[in-house]
Amino acid sequence: MDKLAERIDFLRQGGIPIYEPGLDDLVARNVEQGRLSFTTDLAEAMAGARAVFVAVGTPSVRRGNGYADLSYVYQAAEEIAANLVQDYTVVIDKSTVPVGTARQVQRLIAKANPRAVFDMVSNPEFLREGAAISDFMRPDRVVVGSGSQRAFDVMREIYNPLYLNGTPIVETTLETAELIKYAANAFLAMKISFINEMANLCEAVGADVKPLAKAVGLDGRIGGKFLHPGPGYGGSCFPKDTLALLRIAQEHGSTSRMVEAAVEVNAAQKGRMIKKIRDALGGSEAGKTIGVLGLTFKPETDDLREAPALTILPALSEKGAALQVHDPQGMGEAAKIMPECRYLDDPYAVATGADALILMTEWNQYRALDLQRLRALMAQPLFIDLRNVYEPVMMREAGFTYIGVGRLQ
Ligand code: UGA
Repeated sequence: MDKLAERIDFLRQGGIPIYEPGLDDLVARNVEQGRLSFTTDLAEAMAGARAVFVAVGTPSVRRGNGYADLSYVYQAAEEIAANLVQDYTVVIDKSTVPVGTARQVQRLIAKANPRAVFDMVSNPEFLREGAAISDFMRPDRVVVGSGSQRAFDVMREIYNPLYLNGTPIVETTLETAELIKYAANAFLAMKISFINEMANLCEAVGADVKPLAKAVGLDGRIGGKFLHPGPGYGGSCFPKDTLALLRIAQEHGSTSRMVEAAVEVNAAQKGRMIKKIRDALGGSEAGKTIGVLGLTFKPETDDLREAPALTILPALSEKGAALQVHDPQGMGEAAKIMPECRYLDDPYAVATGADALILMTEWNQYRALDLQRLRALMAQPLFIDLRNVYEPVMMREAGFTYIGVGRLQ
């Protein structure tokens, strides 16, 4: 159920409102077999339901201040309350919400409908955009927060068919489940900021971050994932959730200096990338043509929220650089936000006449570019690889001046 009639109509016609690999087939299969249908009518959606998932958005109230806008959550709660007419229903919060929200929703429903027989569950989601289906089907763990054994039983029933493969289910309280979500995202953000700092340190001392990350990550206690340096983390989750965690800590008279540092390092990293590009262009980007490959915050999504490109590109264009860009999925949205860029159809058009080519997002189609063709098209063979996709030696051999993040030159 969604309130947006046009979205429901679009889904009913077989449309998928976001780009997520495999989602169209998965939805089509389930619709065809009668397991999935779409409606704007909550009563219809809830009829006979033992479990109701709330997965509404919780955007920041103002960008960057850490307050989540919970109005959609509370509005959904009011409407669910009015439709709780059956014997027993589990109301499950899937949205990422500040600690205490599920309990607040529980109170709200109980007050709005004193006859409702229900339990509240917090069931945070850990999937990544671009890998949503496989992450959901094969999660590392499932977290279920509740105060009721009956609710735990319903949740086990829901997840059992998916998780017969032994996925651990962590059962805990509402508040703990809510905090787990923030703790997990904050830890991953810290890992990224940590490796970005190490990359910067590598540049300072003349070391190479690639073998460093590999060797450090091979320690099982540390783990190799999320140790790829880059232009800083973006997306709808890490930037928002780290700030929300800090806000939650502050509101409860506590702090997290580690997460604070991760946020600061991430902001500084985007600035460092701007300086890296400027320095590579001889100290000024004015009058230079810069080609950019990738705009979205990560590959396999059309999502531009908090993408490093949205900070880095306007800063370059403000100083007089002409930007020509490509992204396999994000150009429609980007054109609305950054009308100053020229949007081109393929990577080679982006390279044409460019004084520098920046690899901003590591889409697969940028991993095996025809280097000779690129170099021949460019005004200057300067390749700035903000995702360390290419190897410095190979790029030098291909005739490029190559600059990575934390790589030995
Ligand atoms: C993130 C978490 O990974 C999910 O577990 C979580 O469910 C989700 O947030 C959420 O809270 O909904 P997502 O934002 O989709 O998922 O994407 P990630 O793959 O985590 O990437 C986030 C950002 O970190 C991207 O900008 C990516 O480029 C950057 N990143 C990631 C790095 O710079 N280095 C890395 O090693 C890994």
